[in-house]
Amino acid sequence: MSLLRAENLGKDFTVRKGLLRREKRVIAFDGLNFSLEAGQTLAVVGESGSGKSSLAKVLTGIDTPDRGRLWLDGEDLASPAVRKTLHRHVRMIFQDPYGSLNPRVRVNRLLEEPLRINTDLNAQERRQRVNETLLKVGLRPELADRFPHAFSGGQRQRIAIARALVLEPKLIVADEPISALDVSVQAQVLNLLIDLQKQLDLAYVFISHDLGIVKHLSNQVLVLYLGRLMEYGDTDAVFAKPFHPYTEALLAATPQFRHQIQGQHVVKGELPSLLKVPPGCPFHKRCPYATARCAEEQPASRPLKGRLVACHYAEERAG
Ligand SMILES: Nc1ncnc2c1ncn2[C@@H]1O[C@H](COP(=O)(O)OP(=O)(O)O)[C@@H](O)[C@H]1O
Ligand code: SF4
Ligand SMILES: [Mg+2]
Repeated sequence: MSLLRAENLGKDFTVRKGLLRREKRVIAFDGLNFSLEAGQTLAVVGESGSGKSSLAKVLTGIDTPDRGRLWLDGEDLASPAVRKTLHRHVRMIFQDPYGSLNPRVRVNRLLEEPLRINTDLNAQERRQRVNETLLKVGLRPELADRFPHAFSGGQRQRIAIARALVLEPKLIVADEPISALDVSVQAQVLNLLIDLQKQLDLAYVFISHDLGIVKHLSNQVLVLYLGRLMEYGDTDAVFAKPFHPYTEALLAATPQFRHQIQGQHVVKGELPSLLKVPPGCPFHKRCPYATARCAEEQPASRPLKGRLVACHYAEERAG
């Protein structure tokens, strides 16, 4: 049984548009199918605006899905009783360690709060757990009576990681956790996440636009475009031979992987707005391989050699 499983998961937003401020429903993401095993990492990639953070919020229970189903450890998260336990088992790390930590609350209290809300531990047990968790992320417990502003960006992200860990979750959803940090501390924080995963058998949903990091640390990758699944499969296989033109374009845009991509792969134009998702294949206006069919018919995402791929010509491309 997978730790996490999503079936046709979808989420909408209502936006007000135009002079008349008419309400319009916008699909943030739709038709997402994926699963994640304990102790493994699923990377979610795609350009900004492709629905990654919206998905993160649904996976952590900050938002509820509008369509589809989601299971954690085989328990259906549609059940209110199960949803109540979600905050314990699934925790989130945000991109910005400045915005995500309340500046007016001392670090030891920031970490103690989730324990007070979600567990029966007494004050001494809570203090002990907080100290153990700080040590796990490489911070000295005696500094924890300070406020977040006393710490550097990298240390703050360690505090955010500690706060995610303090409830001993099974899954951490990390939304671009190092992209706001100084380059000099990015590798340290990344290595910390990798070490913690090994020690604690943690699973990660790791959102990133850095494909080098995704290759290094994920077992599986989910490629989104305008909130739709383009390709999903084992990271090594997908990187070795992408079946979807959008995956190919993302790899071709990354110096580390450019040399292995053959053929035409230059993506035309800008990412369309979610308010104007093109009919047919959502990628067709930018796809170098698009045909007349692509403008009319939306490709279904379907199984292919152990992956899911949504391109009319995926079978031909897979060879
Ligand atoms: N609460 C919201 N209300 C309306 N639109 C939203 C809301 N949150 C996100 N969106 C829209 O959903 C789209 C996907 O956003 P997001 O999930 O943040 O993408 P990503 O993290 O991949 O950049 C964006 O176009 C954004 O404007
Ligand atoms: S369906 Fe057509 S437009 Fe879409 S990715 Fe495939 S070839 Fe490109
Ligand atoms: Mg985002």
